[in-house]
Amino acid sequence: MSEKLDFFATCAKGVEPLLAAELRALGLDAVRDTRGGATFAGPVAAGYRACLWSRLASRVLLPVARFHCPSPLDLYEGMRSVKWWEHLDTDGTLAVDFSASNSAITHAHFGALKAKDAIVDQFRDRLGRRPSVDTALPDLRVNVYLERDQATVSLDLSGEALHRRGYRVQGGKAPLKENLAAAILHSARWPAMAVDGAQLVDPMCGAGTLLVEGALMAADVAPGLGRERFGFSRWLGHDGQAWGALVAEARERQAAGVAGLAPDRIHGYDRDMRSVNALNENLYHAGLEDKVRVTRRAVEDTEPQPGPPGLVVVNPPYGERLGADDDLAALYAALGTALKVNFPGWRAAVFTGNPDLAHHLRLAADRKVTLYNGPIVCRLLHYGIG
Ligand SMILES: C[S@@+](CC[C@H](N)C(=O)[O-])C[C@H]1O[C@@H](n2cnc3c(N)ncnc32)[C@H](O)[C@@H]1O
Repeated sequence: MSEKLDFFATCAKGVEPLLAAELRALGLDAVRDTRGGATFAGPVAAGYRACLWSRLASRVLLPVARFHCPSPLDLYEGMRSVKWWEHLDTDGTLAVDFSASNSAITHAHFGALKAKDAIVDQFRDRLGRRPSVDTALPDLRVNVYLERDQATVSLDLSGEALHRRGYRVQGGKAPLKENLAAAILHSARWPAMAVDGAQLVDPMCGAGTLLVEGALMAADVAPGLGRERFGFSRWLGHDGQAWGALVAEARERQAAGVAGLAPDRIHGYDRDMRSVNALNENLYHAGLEDKVRVTRRAVEDTEPQPGPPGLVVVNPPYGERLGADDDLAALYAALGTALKVNFPGWRAAVFTGNPDLAHHLRLAADRKVTLYNGPIVCRLLHYGIG
């Protein structure tokens, strides 16, 4: 399929401009950030490239129909206007994700059911047989989104959400989502620092999502390379040749990037041994086991290695999910002291769901970015350590 298609990559609230910049850097065309994601255009391979390489997107959608949808009947008829037989085999499986805002149809479960009925009725009427529903691993995942009674119907090229890279085995304590960790690193401009050979340190690394994502960036590893399956894998319109070429290129870049990443540039510390073990296991599954040094150590004792300065990136506990009894103010003060005493000349990025605690760092942020950790409004505070 070489025709020009329009795509929509979704992302968490607050990440849109970073996602648009990432998609442009991937060489994608006509990129524009919009609420909840970014649009781009190109042949089907452009959508595949975003699935394979975007570290920040949640999903990549390929819209196939748009229609006015003020009632359930309009939804049903609009869904039936799509030639579903071009996308899915009669004996295949499907799932429908439905969401709506400011629209007459509000109930997601009802909307999904109605949309699914239209698809299977179309098959039954044409062929006497119908696909079945599989909400977990369908051959085709269809996304229906209603905004002010305007429906956009898309094929979900990602399938399972893209933050599931395939390396996370151990959860650790309160781990960040992989694409949120990647957004934090992009906001801190780690990809450019990594190219310049900078160090990366997380003094409270937990299961190390920030460090695994940082190492994948530094080693030029496509985040989707560890996944077994995407939403397009069983799509009838799938262009296996285009996908195979992208994977082959990504594997070459991975081999060169991993071989070229020095083992003493990325360091993780945590006072909790289970976190240290969890990170080591995640690194093993990401194919990066010798590329990040992990040590059990309290934040007060964190020091950089000799060499050029770099970035300290950290997501300290903030009382939402970890023990609220901890003396968090003292912990932030200890982090602030460690940064000032041990990391002069470095950049720091501190991600917290409790900005009041950040005052205890006793450092002046030069940039503050709002990001969302699920429903929690969080701040990403950027510092230049004097
Ligand atoms: C919110 S978790 C970090 C999660 C991590 N960003 C991830 O995605 O897996 C905070 C971590 O700080 C660690 N921690 C708390 N107090 C510490 C201290 N004084 N020194 C070092 N680590 C500490 C905890 O063990 C926990 O793993």
